Amino acid sequence: MAENFDVVIIGGGPGGYAAALYGASAGLNIALIEKNRIGGTCLNVGCIPAKELLETASVRRAIESAAAFGLTTSEPVLDFSVTQTRKQGVIDGLVGGLTGLLKKRKVTVYDGIGTLHAGHVVKVSGGSSGDVELHGTNVILASGSVPRTIPGFDVDGVTVLTSDELLSLQKLPATAVVIGGGAIGCEFASMMSDLGTEVTILEALPQILPGCDEDITRVVLKSFKDRNITVRTGVSVNGHDIKFGGGTTVKFGEGETVDVDMVVVSVGRRPLSENLGLDGTAVAVSDRGHVVVDSHCRTGEPGVWAVGDLIATPALAHIGFAEGMLAIRDMLGEDPMSIDYSKVPWCIYCHPEVSFVGHTEKSAKEAGFDVIVSKHRYTGNGRALILGETEGMVKIIAEKRSDGTGGRLLGVHMVGPWVTEQLGQAYLAVNWEADVDDVAAFIQPHPTLSELFGESVLALTGRSLHG
Ligand code: FAD
Ligand code: NAI
Repeated sequence: MAENFDVVIIGGGPGGYAAALYGASAGLNIALIEKNRIGGTCLNVGCIPAKELLETASVRRAIESAAAFGLTTSEPVLDFSVTQTRKQGVIDGLVGGLTGLLKKRKVTVYDGIGTLHAGHVVKVSGGSSGDVELHGTNVILASGSVPRTIPGFDVDGVTVLTSDELLSLQKLPATAVVIGGGAIGCEFASMMSDLGTEVTILEALPQILPGCDEDITRVVLKSFKDRNITVRTGVSVNGHDIKFGGGTTVKFGEGETVDVDMVVVSVGRRPLSENLGLDGTAVAVSDRGHVVVDSHCRTGEPGVWAVGDLIATPALAHIGFAEGMLAIRDMLGEDPMSIDYSKVPWCIYCHPEVSFVGHTEKSAKEAGFDVIVSKHRYTGNGRALILGETEGMVKIIAEKRSDGTGGRLLGVHMVGPWVTEQLGQAYLAVNWEADVDDVAAFIQPHPTLSELFGESVLALTGRSLHG
């Protein structure tokens, strides 16, 4: 006999656990199936561990700049195993908290692999919950994604690693090649370089951080170069030859090579749809492995939704949260608004940090907007000077009015100190379709880094203070 639930969710990452918590808080009886560890990629091998290791890099930079503040320190010595223990402590605390929250909301958690069959039947097997059959009035698929690999670079966890293995290293290599200069590649390159590894990024496209505004990428690129990170763009990798005694020779471009201890493959992630069963259902899967959904995350099978990295939307934890909640509201018949994926917040935690929302200058022009742009650098910002972190800028893109001033805000792009914490008001402004005048009327506290956002918007009114 199958156990009945209002909602059965396959996958306990941000998409699945957000749906479970939100649905339970709306009074639904929920089953959540996880084959590995609650929290998914994000908590266990993604956002949280990556940011935790980046924080170690940040502490090291702070120590190295201590002398400028009149504080004498000795040369910092890294014991990466201690770093790893701290990282695991942060993860375990979050996973423990989440497990407790699910219990408190009376979500029934099953340990095993969930597969969906005809008639909303979900079978669980292969885990400590044994073989169980569940029936969900509604079902949410949230099985997430796994690292993509490339031919010729077999992941062995020693010489060739993906993010999964790198995040658990006990010792950093002296030299490394990072294949792919996207979000993961830039975060890892930045972290490893700041902790002493000599890093080369090999990126196939003409630019690292594809999707970022070019002015912002230039700032990151300059900082990487200043810190001796070698960045090679527009190159393809052609395999590697493992060396006797350790390390490998990576072949790329037109006959070029580089000898390194380690290769980190960060060329994107692929949806994990192949273990979901789906026989006898109308759930469709695309050529690239994404479950096909409509604007409300509904699959082709009535009563079955799919969310998070499993679908072809931005692969971000907060998008998983939003889609999980959207699916629950949709099944409750609340007619929720669909997500505008062109205006979601993006934050990349390399040094210097990057954050953005909405159009880049290029995409706004390509979309036919007559734009006005305001760029301000942190060099004149009091708080940035106090911190000793003046590298970076805020760039605002707005519709140009006939009088030459700025109208509706189309995009905001930031690079520099703590910009991942400063995007909030820009995100609200762009999504509220606020005008420059609306935003310029608000007061920014002083001295703060966020004054630069205020100054940059104010300048588009045709008048300004410091900028
Ligand atoms: P996942 O988190 O992948 O969770 C899916 C879960 O389903 C997994 O736990 C898996 O074990 C389970 N599962 C799969 N199949 C089954 C099955 N058949 N039965 C039972 N369980 C199953 N995003 C950000 O927003 N900010 C960041 O800073 C950020 N940093 C990142 C850094 C790294 C190194 C990586 C790799 C990713 C990062 N991401 C970041 C992306 C973020 O982790 C993902 O977008 C997010 O985890 C996706 O959530 P999800 O629930 O869709 O899938
Ligand atoms: P990505 O898609 O961001 O970047 C992959 C990069 O690899 C691209 O620039 C691509 O051109 C390049 N590439 C692909 N094949 C290549 C090849 N053969 N040789 C050289 N370069 C190649 O993917 P990434 O960095 O692996 O991250 C996956 C996803 O995880 C991201 O898209 C993002 O959604 C999420 N993420 C988010 C973070 C954040 O929000 N801070 C941090 C890390 C990951």
